Amino acid sequence: MKRILVTSALPYINGVKHLGNLIGSQLPSDVYARFMRSLGFDVLFICATDEHGTPAELAAKNKGIPVEDFCQEMWLMQKKIADDFNISFDHFGRSSSKQNYELTQHFALKLWENNFIEEVEESQVYSLDDKRFLPDRYITGKCPACGYEKARGDQCENCTKQLDPTDLIDPESTISGSKLLEIRQTRHLFLKQSLLKNKLEKWINTKEKWPTLTKSIAKKWLNTKEGLKDRSITRDLSWGVPVKKYGAFWPGFEEKVFYVWFDAPIAYIAATREWSDSKHDPDSWKTWWLNGEGAENVFYVQFMAKDNIPFHTISFPATIFGAEENWKLVDFIKGFNWLLYEGGKFSTSENRGIFMDKALDIYPADYWRWWLLSNAPESSDTDFTWASFQSTVNKDLADVLGNFISRVSSFSVSKFGQKIPSKGKYGQLEIETIEKIDLHYKCLKDLMESIEIRKSCSELRTIWVIGNEYLQRAAPWSVFKETPEKSQMIIRFALNLIYFYSLISEPFIPESCEKIQKHFQFNKMKTLPQNLDSFVDALNDTHEISKPSIFFQKISDEEVFDYQMEFSGN
Ligand code: MF3
Ligand code: ZN
Repeated sequence: MKRILVTSALPYINGVKHLGNLIGSQLPSDVYARFMRSLGFDVLFICATDEHGTPAELAAKNKGIPVEDFCQEMWLMQKKIADDFNISFDHFGRSSSKQNYELTQHFALKLWENNFIEEVEESQVYSLDDKRFLPDRYITGKCPACGYEKARGDQCENCTKQLDPTDLIDPESTISGSKLLEIRQTRHLFLKQSLLKNKLEKWINTKEKWPTLTKSIAKKWLNTKEGLKDRSITRDLSWGVPVKKYGAFWPGFEEKVFYVWFDAPIAYIAATREWSDSKHDPDSWKTWWLNGEGAENVFYVQFMAKDNIPFHTISFPATIFGAEENWKLVDFIKGFNWLLYEGGKFSTSENRGIFMDKALDIYPADYWRWWLLSNAPESSDTDFTWASFQSTVNKDLADVLGNFISRVSSFSVSKFGQKIPSKGKYGQLEIETIEKIDLHYKCLKDLMESIEIRKSCSELRTIWVIGNEYLQRAAPWSVFKETPEKSQMIIRFALNLIYFYSLISEPFIPESCEKIQKHFQFNKMKTLPQNLDSFVDALNDTHEISKPSIFFQKISDEEVFDYQMEFSGN
C-alpha cells in the first residue's frame, strides 16, 4: 500500500493566522490528507508551530511574559483553532521540542563534519537605539531589485528575491523605526549552499510534475547572477536552538542560536518524532523519514504559500543533501499564491481581513472551508470578497447540496413515512445519471491525486448538480399519483445519492457531512466507494428516514453588509 507523508508549513507562533494563511497550507493539506486516507492510503499528516526567532521574543515582551510561556499559550490556541476547523493532523507539534533541539544540532554537526559549514566573520546591522543586532526581517527598506518600499532584510515579499539587509536602500529598524544603524562585526556559521548547487539543480530537474509556481521560484533562486549564495544559519539572539556540537557550546557561540529558518523545516522530522514518542513507538518515525527503513516507499508532499518555496526547494534540501545520510527528500511541493482581502492585503497590524478565530465566531467551519477550497489561489492570487463568499455558500451549499437533501427527504417522509421507500428497477434516467456521476467522480479522484484543489471542488459541485438535475427530470412528485412505486424507486435512488455525497464530500466539508450521516444514520465507511455504480443500493430495507434539519443556512445581504464594515480594518 502506498504511504503518503503530508506536511503543512509550520505556522509562525506569534499570533492567530488569517484565512490567507489557512488556505496557503493547512486547509489544502487537510483535504488532501483526508481524501488520500479515504482512498485507503496510509497517510501521516504532520504540522507544528514554528516558535523561534525575534517575532516571538518581541510578542512575549509586549505581553510582559517569558517567551516560553507565550509560546505555550499560543501553541494551545493555534492547536484549538486548527481543531475547530477540523484540520485532521496526526500530530501538531512544536519546533521548540527537545526532539527538534536534538535533530537541529545533529544536522549542524553532520554538515560541519562534511565540510558544508564554515565560520564567517560577518558584518551585521546593529541598532544603536535598540542596543542590539537586528535580525534581517527587522530591517526594512527599498528592494534593490523591484523597488518595493517595504522589503524586509531577508526577502522581498513583492518579488520573492532573497536579500541581505545590507542590500536594502535606506534601511530602518522595524522595532523602533530608528535609522541609527551601523555595521558591526560578528561571527556566524554559514551553510555552504554554493557547493550543493549542482546537486540541487539536478534533483529539481527530475521533478517534471512539480507545479510551475514551485519550479520557477526554485530556478530563479538557483540561478541568480551571483549564483546560489551561502547562508548564515546562526543569529545573535537568545530564543532558539543553542548552537552546540557534541553536547557542548560551539566555541564563541554561547550567546547565539540557530537561525529559525534552519531549525523550522527540521521540525517536520522532529514533530514526526514527537508523534512516535507520544504513541510509545519511538522508532516508527524512521519508517517515514529514513530511506532504507521504509521511507523509500513513502510519497512525501509539502504544502506552503509561495514565500516559503525557496526554503523548501533549496535551503532545507541543502541541509538534507549536506548531511549525507539517508534522509527522505520531498517528492512534491504544492505552493500557493496569495489570498487577497477585498482587493487589498490581509493585514494583522491594520486588523484588515478575517482571522481564523473570528471566522468561526460568525460562520461554521465548512462555509469557510468550501469557499476557500473552491477558490484556492493555485494559478494566481485570489480575492476574497464578501459577495463571492455569500453567493458561493448560498448557491453551492444551500441551493445545490442542501436543497437536494431537503427536497428528497421531505418528500420521502411526507409520502412514505419513516420507512425507506422500496427498491425498484432503475430505468434509463438512473443509469445515465450513474454513468455521468461516475465520470466526474473518476475525475475528482484523479484531480485530488494530482492535488488540483479548485478543479476538484468544481468536479464535486458538478456531482451535486447532477443530483438536482436528476430530481428535476425524474419528477417523483408528478409520477407519484399514477405510479407510486416508480416514485419510491426515484426517491430511494436519490437517498442513496445523499449517502454517496455525504461520503465523497467529507474531506471538503467534514462537519456537515458528519451531521448528514448522523441525521440519516448512514454507516460510516473506512474507504470511499469505488464508484457510484457499485454503491447505489447501499441503503438497506430496514433503513429509516426522518425529516431533515436545515444543514446550510443562507447568508443574508444584511449580514454581508455588517461584516464588510466590521472587517475592513482600522
Ligand atoms: N513559519 C513559516 C511561515 O509562516 C513557515 C515555516 S515552514 C518550515 O512562513 F518548514 F520552515 F517550518
Ligand atoms: Zn523586490
